[in-house]
Amino acid sequence: MKPIILVIVSLSFAAASIMTAEQISIVQASFDEVKGDPVGILYACLKADPSIQEKFPQFAGKDLEVVKGTPEFKTHAKRIVGYSLKVIYELPDMERDVDTFVASHKPRGITHEQLDNFRAGFVTYMKAHTDFAKSESAWGASLDNFFGMIKSKM
Ligand code: HEM
Repeated sequence: MKPIILVIVSLSFAAASIMTAEQISIVQASFDEVKGDPVGILYACLKADPSIQEKFPQFAGKDLEVVKGTPEFKTHAKRIVGYSLKVIYELPDMERDVDTFVASHKPRGITHEQLDNFRAGFVTYMKAHTDFAKSESAWGASLDNFFGMIKSKM
């Protein structure tokens, strides 16, 4: 039994890495560049995995190219960007925001694969809209921490 407990403890430590103050300010400045395009960000995240869109009753079964132009899509996109801004401006402390996310999203039956694909869609967006090479490793650290903590809780 003891070795198993040790493995679990070491894995949970491995999931979180300490972010430097420089990495945090790079991520904040980088997100500031794109926060005015919530619709484009959500579109990229849903485009990466159509099964994510199917979880939204208001978007399920509809053409993403049409849905992205609706007021409902804009409203949800603003909620996601607002939440992300909160997490990013509270770095490196994200546990309370992660717990809020897990409390509302765990009952939605979201898989780890969907979380990975959502993340990949976001990175695709950032590569297309920012000079991502400059911020890639800082984003890598913050996304590893955010999604790692979520996955350990759901
Ligand atoms: C990866 C797959 C995901 C799925 C399938 C999913 C699904 C959903 C659904 C169905 C809702 C309710 C929408 C409504 O009632 O109008 C929702 C709400 C929300 N989602 Fe997600 N979501 C995912 C990932 C994310 C991520 C990564 C973030 C943050 C970066 C996020 C942030 C939010 C926020 C802020 C809300 C509104 C508050 C709430 O109901 O929790 N979601 N999501």
